[in-house]
Amino acid sequence: MDSSILLSAAEVFGTPFYFYDLDFIRDRVRKVYDFFNQFDFHLAYAVKANFNFEILSMLNELGTMVDVVSFGEYERVRKAGFTPERIVVNGNCKSVGELKKYVEDSVYCINLDSLEELLRLESIADRPVRVAIRVNPDVDPKTHHHIATGLKENKFGVDYDTAERMIQIISRSRFVRLVGLHCHIGSQIVEVDPYRQAFESMRDFASKLNLQLELVNLGGGWGIDYGDGKQLDLEEYRRNVFPILEDFNCRIVLELGRWIVGPAGYLISKVEYVKKTKNKNFIVIDAGMSHLIRPALYGAKHRIEPLYEQKDRPTIVADVVGPVCESADTFAKNLELPEPQEGELLIIRDVGAYGYVMSSHYNLLRRAPEILYSKETGFRVSSA
Ligand code: LLP
Repeated sequence: MDSSILLSAAEVFGTPFYFYDLDFIRDRVRKVYDFFNQFDFHLAYAVKANFNFEILSMLNELGTMVDVVSFGEYERVRKAGFTPERIVVNGNCKSVGELKKYVEDSVYCINLDSLEELLRLESIADRPVRVAIRVNPDVDPKTHHHIATGLKENKFGVDYDTAERMIQIISRSRFVRLVGLHCHIGSQIVEVDPYRQAFESMRDFASKLNLQLELVNLGGGWGIDYGDGKQLDLEEYRRNVFPILEDFNCRIVLELGRWIVGPAGYLISKVEYVKKTKNKNFIVIDAGMSHLIRPALYGAKHRIEPLYEQKDRPTIVADVVGPVCESADTFAKNLELPEPQEGELLIIRDVGAYGYVMSSHYNLLRRAPEILYSKETGFRVSSA
């Protein structure tokens, strides 16, 4: 991103603020459709990653589907223009009222998280409803344990024995129709092998029961490069996963969130103090864990870069910290960078996914506004 654009946005909107590059998001959507072009494929964008209304409206215009996990997300995507037949419903805690509404609206697919949920749905369905069973294949996605979801100790999905019982129940159901299998094994996955294992086990299950599936939903989780050079290798994915997908011989649905929006987002923040103590230096910035909680919650590392002239400056080694009254409010430890001056700006990168959506009012800090940018229209503050 051109730094002069970020600097002028900072002048207009003050700091901190989120900045989203809409052209990048559009490009990612095109890339993922191109990547799967040999398949009957649909991206169901995972709204939880970034529910900005204008981003959703743009995705609606681009013709993607969406994956929602709550009624709040459902209402928002409906407002953004998505019709129910382009909405996949996830979540492990769907209420009776929510399920009734999804049945009434005929959503594309409800991903059932449990046998109990199936029984609840069966008791209320009064017209045909399309479902997939979320299986838990018990594979280790080798990611942070907070965002691993496909191990048997995780609360999500059902084991294959339970899935088989659910299929028997569905086969006797008047209205519930099994259209697919679903699994989501975790997020920020940078190795292909966990995917291979998970999809192989689903394929073997489907072929053992001779299931005629209309779709297989692969969940999301593609890992992006946060600066350590690790990300999901798509060529390896093509080699090792595509042959399994071909065996399914049905529509592929993919629920990516982070890979679509993560690298499109920047958090721009101002240096308030460079605090030097006997033991350590601290760069105190006006963005904190209330704006971006990933470092505090998962120990996540985001690249931090100066948005000021770097030539002819002494370097400083410092922790980059926010204004929140907790020591967890730390974005980087012992970062070496050209020493900033009070009032100069830093960029925190790759915050387009799970950034603003997880922010809070903790310490009653002002929520960061979201600024949208595209080459064609320039930048503007997001209205919703
Ligand atoms: N599908 C399901 C059922 C999910 O639970 C998720 C993410 C996705 C798709 C999208 O995954 P993605 O492509 O974005 O990895 N707050 C955490 C990430 C939590 C992910 C939750 N589920 C973070 O900041 O890393």
